[in-house]
Amino acid sequence: MDLNEFNLTQRVKDSFRTEEGSRLKFLLETFIDHLHDYTRETKLTHDEWMRVLMFLYDCGQISTPERHEFILLSDVLGWSALVDMINTKGGATEGSNLGPFYLDNAPKLELGDDLSDGREGVTVLIHGKVQDTLKNPLPGTIIDTWQADSAGTYPIQEEGQDKYDLRGIFKTDDQGRYWYTTVLPKPYTVPYDGPVGDLLRAGKRHSWRAAHLHYILRAEGYNDITTEIFFAGTEYVDNDAVFGVRNSLIAKVKPVKSGDSLPYETGRKPDAIVEFDFTLAPEG
Ligand code: BEZ
Ligand code: FE
Repeated sequence: MDLNEFNLTQRVKDSFRTEEGSRLKFLLETFIDHLHDYTRETKLTHDEWMRVLMFLYDCGQISTPERHEFILLSDVLGWSALVDMINTKGGATEGSNLGPFYLDNAPKLELGDDLSDGREGVTVLIHGKVQDTLKNPLPGTIIDTWQADSAGTYPIQEEGQDKYDLRGIFKTDDQGRYWYTTVLPKPYTVPYDGPVGDLLRAGKRHSWRAAHLHYILRAEGYNDITTEIFFAGTEYVDNDAVFGVRNSLIAKVKPVKSGDSLPYETGRKPDAIVEFDFTLAPEG
């Protein structure tokens, strides 16, 4: 049969001999359908098609193990946020961006330690509990956290700084509680010196992320959660460049007044307190 713009899509799908009923077959065929539909609907020109390919080529060229331009592209298109949203399990803490600055093997810290190692900034006591969807405490949950400093910079971005600064791994106590001090991070811009930055400028969009703390939580028998905590009333909390903010992830920063009693004794005296509870859903 002669190929034309109407039968081509099926012929391309048929050219893949993926296993009948498999997830791969479904993902591939749906992708081809949408890609071809997009092309027909927009009547994509050769120039536009080549522009897209060169854009992807440029994303590849600027990417390194520390600079993931494709993740950034997914973030600014709201694709990462959508994947987080549709994969959040009922009752569990909502997921949010992993971002490009996660590192494996952060230092192991003790509850109550200062994550910021005495850095300058507004000192905040972060505390709360980790529980399951029935509100049972989850002792021994691994809390892997990382953040920017009080100027909005991740140490990994700065030459001469220890890339493991401002990151650490805590374990909840026998009641599922966690607490530590750190400095409040500031908003910062996503990297915009590459093709994704060009895309933001073309769309007259800003590149600022609302200030946040990153977390990955892991507990045996429960789904891992990758998420972020944001702070009420701070800049960009209503228009984060990567659509990471959800109302349920916004915490209040309560200033500590003299005479206030603190929920935990810590080595570094906090200027403010943030309380946030995490909920994990059972696996399966
Ligand atoms: C971050 O949170 O670190 C981040 C997330 C998306 C893009 C760039 C940075
Ligand atoms: Fe971040």
